[in-house]
Amino acid sequence: MNLSSQQTVQWLTKCAEIFAREQDNLTELDRAIGDGDHGLNMHRGFQKVAEKLPSVADKNIAIILKTTGMTLLSSVGGASGPLFGTFFIKAAQAAADKPYLTLADLAEIITAGTEGVAMRGKAEPGDKTMCDVWWPVSESLSISATQNLPLDQALKEAIIAARLALEATVPMQARKGRASYLGERSIGHQDPGATSVLLMMDTLQQIVSASSASSVN
Ligand SMILES: Nc1ncnc2c1ncn2[C@@H]1O[C@H](COP(=O)(O)OP(=O)(O)OP(=O)(O)O)[C@@H](O)[C@H]1O
Ligand SMILES: [Mg+2]
Repeated sequence: MNLSSQQTVQWLTKCAEIFAREQDNLTELDRAIGDGDHGLNMHRGFQKVAEKLPSVADKNIAIILKTTGMTLLSSVGGASGPLFGTFFIKAAQAAADKPYLTLADLAEIITAGTEGVAMRGKAEPGDKTMCDVWWPVSESLSISATQNLPLDQALKEAIIAARLALEATVPMQARKGRASYLGERSIGHQDPGATSVLLMMDTLQQIVSASSASSVN
């Protein structure tokens, strides 16, 4: 099973719903170690993405991802807009003109997006950033691709890795962004941006599983 452009649109549209629902939780996390705007940033950004998606719904995956990235970049202030924007723009470049994505393609675009974020944010492993979840997700998908796992199973494995990685951000001391100003006081809190990465991947897994269930029936 592959990821189609239609599923990509469904995924990003659903992300807008999820970020509307999770806005307060994300804000709460960011209030503990940041400035309390992460929920609003993600909600506002993905609302704009959802508004833009119908105009590119019949285009290829690269255009859908690039439009998402440009929209996040231009509509979200702070660190996370440019960072998530970069993720989607780099992912779009890696998607090139592919009409659909195999698991190997998905692993490749997520790896490209992750590398783009890490480069832009100068994030290192253990800095307590969204990259601390992006890296394990891209690694898990790449391993699953070499094992030829079905896409839905690979995404389930990636979610397990993402959940563990998100929990692992709790004892980390932040070394990037506003949270780093807290020094040791940033220890003991889950990273908001990393939480958003899990939400996005979880949403993708749900979209893929729903379509693989309906294709079986
Ligand atoms: N240099 C960085 N590299 C990667 N991710 C980062 C970096 N700085 C911050 N982040 C991520 O951004 C999240 C905060 O996003 P938010 O929407 O609150 O923007 P912000 O308030 O401008 O960020 P910050 O206060 O961290 O600079 C963090 O939880 C972290 O995951
Ligand atoms: Mg913030």
